[in-house]
Amino acid sequence: MRLDKFLANMGVGTRSEVKQLLKKNQVQVNGKNEKQSKAQINPEEDTVTVNGDFIRYVDKVYIMLNKPAGYISATEDNEHSTVLDLIDDFQNLNIFPVGRLDKDTTGLILLTNDGQFNHDIMSPNKHVSKIYRVEAEKAVSQQDIEIFADGVELSDGKAQPAELKCTEESKTVYVTIQEGRFHQVKRMFHAIDNEVLKLKRVQIGQLQLDSSLSEGDYRELTTEEIELVQQ
Ligand code: URA
Repeated sequence: MRLDKFLANMGVGTRSEVKQLLKKNQVQVNGKNEKQSKAQINPEEDTVTVNGDFIRYVDKVYIMLNKPAGYISATEDNEHSTVLDLIDDFQNLNIFPVGRLDKDTTGLILLTNDGQFNHDIMSPNKHVSKIYRVEAEKAVSQQDIEIFADGVELSDGKAQPAELKCTEESKTVYVTIQEGRFHQVKRMFHAIDNEVLKLKRVQIGQLQLDSSLSEGDYRELTTEEIELVQQ
């Protein structure tokens, strides 16, 4: 990979800023100053530093974000802020959100630049479960739990069986679904003559939202967590 591309991709600066750094002898490859933008490096093996600071090579990125309300799940939008506006790092790595949460939905959303990972989580054939905490308008009944378990009738066809779990206060419930249809949870509640007042995704696969992340905060997933998502 060209040295200037590597530095720009790792967020050190724009191509022209990087060129200036190189010119001013501020970049070292394996301990030696390098001035050439077009110098070839092996990012897996060579050690690149800028003014002595090590530049970590990142190829694939996996991020969990605690999404606040008011942001849309897209990479760009002319009118609204997007979840990407909340991510300060990895600017040049073409990250995108995995699936969608509605603008008013909060909680766990993943971002990546790994198309295969995205496919593995989103594909209906892979049956990756998603758990949402719902604050509903009315308390749910035993009958509602059974209707969800059987599969709620929606306008675009019957939903797959879903698990509805209540806490002591039964207006706050947890629903587990494996599909990701448009407004699915809201439409499922509407179909049982109830309404979702607040929706928060708390888990994808076996990966729970990190409770230490405040709304708007994010962090990279560990290798173990990348596995957990797909279970
Ligand atoms: N179901 C919904 O209705 N909205 C979401 O954001 C996610 C699931």
